[in-house]
Amino acid sequence: MRIGSILENQSSEKRVAVTPEIVKKYISLGFEVCLSENYGLHLGINDDQYIQIGAKISKDEAEILNSSDVIIQLGMLSDKKVINIGEHKTLIGVLDPYNNKEKLENLAKKKINLFSLELLPRITRAQSMDILSSQANLAGYKAVIESFANFEKAIPMMMTAAGTVPAAKVLIVGAGVAGLQAIATAKRMGAIVFATDVRMASKEQVESLGGKFLTVEGSENLETEGGYAKETSEDFKIKQEELLSETLKKIDIVICTALIPGKKAPLIIKENMINGMQAGSVIYDLAAIQGGNTAFTELDKVVERNGVKIMGESNILNKLPVSASNLYAKNVFNFVDNLFDKESKKININLEDEIIEKTLIK
Ligand code: NAI
Repeated sequence: MRIGSILENQSSEKRVAVTPEIVKKYISLGFEVCLSENYGLHLGINDDQYIQIGAKISKDEAEILNSSDVIIQLGMLSDKKVINIGEHKTLIGVLDPYNNKEKLENLAKKKINLFSLELLPRITRAQSMDILSSQANLAGYKAVIESFANFEKAIPMMMTAAGTVPAAKVLIVGAGVAGLQAIATAKRMGAIVFATDVRMASKEQVESLGGKFLTVEGSENLETEGGYAKETSEDFKIKQEELLSETLKKIDIVICTALIPGKKAPLIIKENMINGMQAGSVIYDLAAIQGGNTAFTELDKVVERNGVKIMGESNILNKLPVSASNLYAKNVFNFVDNLFDKESKKININLEDEIIEKTLIK
């Protein structure tokens, strides 16, 4: 059995799906590993490092895709590359089935097994494979660092002979995985942190990290059985807007992370709310790629409105690709380990296993 992976499109993706540490694990499972030339060079990993631990390096990407039994990537491959995948092989990655329908249908015609890891169920057994959590956690941390770097005042309170510098006030909108890490990071740096969410379970989590939870008055718990958020009613939206409009007048930095799976991100921070904020405040919109939680968010730009900086990136993980790759590669290894039948030494698509059933694109 051969595992293969080729370099991602470098203009949009700096992460890699196979790190040297993980090559060793695949080899000990009985796989051969084949990677494209200069696979990790941009992350400071040269080909020799991969070769020394037993991986093969090839210049021929088409051959890697054609001959590998299991292909592991980050994003979906381009049209030109994807046609090289051989029949009956297995492709694992973040395949974005909502936006790549046609491409995936064509691959399915070649009887290629397609596993999209963003579809993993959020169950305990899948935690070690959960790419959404590992990457969102890093994104939440980095969004705080990026917004603080764009804020022109100090973050922690400082009492000096020249006077007192007040602590910055940070609001986190959406206290899921990214939001909770953003709270922890902002607290560690000395900010006063507030957070809000539509799921009531997040209140206790916010408070345990030292944040103050802002509850939308009279709201019901908008949580699905799977632990995700439901879309909010018009009445909820009005109440949330009232609460946030008042709060934002005193807030220096906002980190937006609110998402609803499979839907456009809800617009939460509207123009009138931004107009009420103090000049010099910063909004980092982590939901930017799904349409944004903030009015005026433009991908990969810092937009200024009324003296407020609004930021959002297409892939914030490209700013910490080494850490993100290390976690992603481990998540995928754990997924392959679960998929691989150690006795027959074959991929076993056991549809009774919820992890396999939910991630397989049918
Ligand atoms: P997500 O990325 O889909 O959304 C981020 C946050 O935004 C969520 O907390 C959501 O409730 C919130 N949100 C959505 N609309 C909002 C609105 N209009 N206003 C304010 N907040 C809004 O969520 P994420 O981070 O992927 O987490 C989803 C759930 O999965 C959580 O309950 C989390 O605890 C759970 N989870 C469970 C795991 C497990 O293995 N058991 C692993 C990881 C997460």
